[in-house]
Amino acid sequence: MKNIILVTGATGNLGEQICRELVNKGASVRAIVRHESDPAKVKALQALGVNINYADFNKPSDLRAACEGVSCVVSALAGLRDVIITAQSQLLNAAVQVGVPRFIPSDFCTDYTRLPIGINRNFDLRKEFETIINNSDIKATSIFNGAFAYVLQYGIPLFDTRNKTIAYYKGKKDWKIDFTTVNDTAAFTAAAALDDSTPRHLHIASFQVSPQDLAVLSTRLYGDTFELTNEGSLDHFLAFVNTQRQTNTEGEHELYPQWQQMQYLYSMFSAHHPHVDNARYPNLNWTSASDALQQA
Ligand SMILES: NC(=O)c1ccc[n+]([C@@H]2O[C@H](COP(=O)([O-])OP(=O)(O)OC[C@H]3O[C@@H](n4cnc5c(N)ncnc54)[C@H](OP(=O)(O)O)[C@@H]3O)[C@@H](O)[C@H]2O)c1
Repeated sequence: MKNIILVTGATGNLGEQICRELVNKGASVRAIVRHESDPAKVKALQALGVNINYADFNKPSDLRAACEGVSCVVSALAGLRDVIITAQSQLLNAAVQVGVPRFIPSDFCTDYTRLPIGINRNFDLRKEFETIINNSDIKATSIFNGAFAYVLQYGIPLFDTRNKTIAYYKGKKDWKIDFTTVNDTAAFTAAAALDDSTPRHLHIASFQVSPQDLAVLSTRLYGDTFELTNEGSLDHFLAFVNTQRQTNTEGEHELYPQWQQMQYLYSMFSAHHPHVDNARYPNLNWTSASDALQQA
């Protein structure tokens, strides 16, 4: 019998790609979608061959029905407390109740286990869910992919294509930062969902580059010299980010307020992968830094 993988957040950017990869691998894919989900996105999932389960996350019976017979739940939900803690816990409870053996939570970020509480609001929510899932009767696997490579297209201080500058913090010019494309993350996650022997944590990166590497690469790719700019100490940056958070309290209700984006930047320079598990599934092709930067 085929493995049934249940994907939630399937109408999202990452979730849809995970569904596509799973279908390509011959898995039977079920997606939980909401009654309010975009019908065009639901139709696109159906066209891929995904079985659609409409569910109200506040109805445990809906979630239990979606989890019935599933070998792994993959969550690619995105949101704040109501999603990462409340909706994911509702799904987790249903999965445990019907005996689903494995759950991949919606982590997909820098390895937050290497960072203290309080420096990244969105990671703190994941840490809180980590405690919940670790105390549940299910095998959990978190996938840490660093930053999605597309953030390099957004003109962030680390790679500012408009001003042709590359920011670094004191002592961090050669600090390697983990980047993974959405497609590479999805391909690895699909393989992990079908692999009953995954450990608690898996680390991946399409490429790992330092500010210095980015400067060399951008000169090679664009023929332009990008100036490396020293932004001072990370401690000083963190103090600045904390002040920004305190003065923008509306941002507490937004997923990516400006101070949260700065918290991600701080996290990129504070934790990186000790090793990568890219080779765990040998058939995957990893995007190079040059290929990703050419799209920036
Ligand atoms: N490492 C990085 O640089 C990086 C960058 C971006 C995202 N991520 C992570 O990748 C994961 C997926 O993000 P994404 O960008 O693919 O997300 P996305 O495109 O915004 O999709 C979000 C998904 O969550 C669902 N959802 C939102 N609120 C919900 C709720 N209250 N109840 C049930 N479903 C809900 C949405 O369903 P509807 O269609 O029904 O709204 C949608 O399927 C997240 O963990 C995110 O933090 C990482």
